[in-house]
Amino acid sequence: MDIHTTIAGFRAALQGAGRVAFVPTMGNLHEGHVTLMRQAKPLGDCLASSLFVNRLQFGPKEDFGTYPRTFAADCEKMAAVGVDHLFAPDEKEMYPAPQAYFVSPDAAQADILEGEFRPGFFRGVATVVMKLFSIVQPQVAVFGKKDYQQLMIIRNLVREFALPIAIVPGETVRAEDGLALSSRNGYLSAAERAEAPRLYRALEAVRQGVRAGERDLARLEQGAMAELRAHGWIPQYVAVRKQLDLQLPAAHDSGLVVLGAALLGSTRLIDNLEV
Ligand code: PAF
Repeated sequence: MDIHTTIAGFRAALQGAGRVAFVPTMGNLHEGHVTLMRQAKPLGDCLASSLFVNRLQFGPKEDFGTYPRTFAADCEKMAAVGVDHLFAPDEKEMYPAPQAYFVSPDAAQADILEGEFRPGFFRGVATVVMKLFSIVQPQVAVFGKKDYQQLMIIRNLVREFALPIAIVPGETVRAEDGLALSSRNGYLSAAERAEAPRLYRALEAVRQGVRAGERDLARLEQGAMAELRAHGWIPQYVAVRKQLDLQLPAAHDSGLVVLGAALLGSTRLIDNLEV
């Protein structure tokens, strides 16, 4: 695997590399990332990845400073799964001056759910992804469904700016007890780790309720939040939405997804299940 720290070096290396499949990351890789890379590998002539902890998508009180940086271990995992080119710029290379131009997704999509609790998050994500797309110029990029709203926003960004990139969704990878793999799981204490799958189980109960024909979605959502609260969590939202645009479903809409976010101790976990 070739590691590039400059935009110019990375672009030069990709000249003539053929069809590029791309998986962007912020590092601290786990099996979820590796699965996305395995999925992306046969989609191109060459597999490119990026490793950049993007300051723009962290709020002032969030964990930008402490976000785990595990460069050597990440490189080993990427090389083992067949990444050909890694773009790993430092902050100065990505943002030589404070970023003054941004991609701001529509509030109806970006200020709900995650965006309500993480103001500016999707502006930061959309801006860095646009910049990475401009640097990498992939033909295909794989994004995990674990970040369901992010996936929707990237799909819309590509469509609205007519970028010639196919966005391919990757399934969420779970531990045996159901917990969705996430870099932030590493923040959990042993006791919190044992408690953490309750979020998945609470969303599963909502999914079963919807499948069983329960149409009072608010009742299902409130029930899941109460269950989490009863076990010491601080739920932020549990919401049944339309898969396509994450807006409220009308009666008898199908193609739904249950999404949730909750704090367990000081760790914020998110998850979702398609119905
Ligand atoms: O999902 C992530 O890891 C990040 O949001 C991404 C897409 C790499 C942008 O920084």
